[in-house]
Amino acid sequence: MTQIDIVGLTKRYGTTLALDGVTLQAREGELVSLLGPSGCGKTTTLRCVAGFMQPDGGDILVDGGSVTGLPPQKRDFGVVFQNYALFPHLTVFENVAYGLGVRRVPKAEQRARVADALAMVRLQGLEERLPRALSGGQQQRVALARALVIRPRLLLLDEPLANLDARLREEVRWLIRDVQQRARITAFYVTHDQAEAMALSDRIAVMKAGRVAQFATPREIYQRPAEAYVARFTGEANLIPARPRDRTAEGWFHLPFGGVVLPVPGAEGIRPGDPAMLMLRPEALSLMDPGAPGAIPALVLGAAFLGAALACEVSLADGTRLRMQASPHATVQPGMTIGLAVDTAHAWLMPDIPQ
Ligand SMILES: Nc1ncnc2c1ncn2[C@@H]1O[C@H](COP(=O)(O)OP(=O)(O)O)[C@@H](O)[C@H]1O
Ligand SMILES: [Mg+2]
Repeated sequence: MTQIDIVGLTKRYGTTLALDGVTLQAREGELVSLLGPSGCGKTTTLRCVAGFMQPDGGDILVDGGSVTGLPPQKRDFGVVFQNYALFPHLTVFENVAYGLGVRRVPKAEQRARVADALAMVRLQGLEERLPRALSGGQQQRVALARALVIRPRLLLLDEPLANLDARLREEVRWLIRDVQQRARITAFYVTHDQAEAMALSDRIAVMKAGRVAQFATPREIYQRPAEAYVARFTGEANLIPARPRDRTAEGWFHLPFGGVVLPVPGAEGIRPGDPAMLMLRPEALSLMDPGAPGAIPALVLGAAFLGAALACEVSLADGTRLRMQASPHATVQPGMTIGLAVDTAHAWLMPDIPQ
């Protein structure tokens, strides 16, 4: 069990600034995801941590000691990368045992540890197979066993599910979380898939152009995003320019919206009168009687039956468009005027940061 600190990491490729001061941490036994769109620097961060690449600046600390100068094999990190392929001419057993051979672990102990690792990823009985005789999901489980067998201080996973189909992705995702928790291994997990990051992580670092935009628990990231970029990347969100009027007694904000004034919670640093950005997740909105007090009148632009919900797009009097999920039993049709209720506990006011 290990604590990892990544401190102010910078990295350039020629004129591209790939990492612009990345700081984050994984505590003992924690799984931390790096989440962000393609090109934001996730893989570069992980490669620097693994030691496959030297950063231009910053430091990587393991339990407080720098490993930045150490070659990969001296770091004792287990690595599972999307394209970090198995040796095609070696059997499953030989692939998993490889790192133990390099470390001169005695043969008998190698056999026991490979058996343990294969049991952990539920691949017993396939020891003599060659990689090409395995499915994609089985191959990634071998890669996971190969990383685990060395009893790494840290597990590094870069989009390990990217080449799997949707159903297998979910299965291997749960397996990874289960193995990581049972072995209590500290882990960094790279993904561009917000659902994957939410389901797996203790904390998520949302990355934006070589920096960490927000580093927090999945719940905080989803409910209390630091900026619109984070809100947009972590699920469906209505984002509406807004200007809070003043503070409520509880420290929320009075916000004129759709002809009413809503009390909404907001981020630190927001000042009444300044431009801000209101986030309404679709679940913050519901239908109410258009004649009832407090109802916000809205015009239905479109409705799609999704089975568990009726997805609607509506427009307010000032033209603001919102997406919401109504009850599948609601009888809502385009052209209808409806009443909108806002559950302000699911609303969130953020600073208006340029994207
Ligand atoms: N070997 C390389 N040479 C030049 N530029 C690179 C190289 N690898 C990555 N980059 C650039 O660095 C930035 C970050 O890339 P990367 O870390 O791979 O992002 P991610 O994994 O989030 O998709 C991108 O702009 C990418 O184009
Ligand atoms: Mg990548």
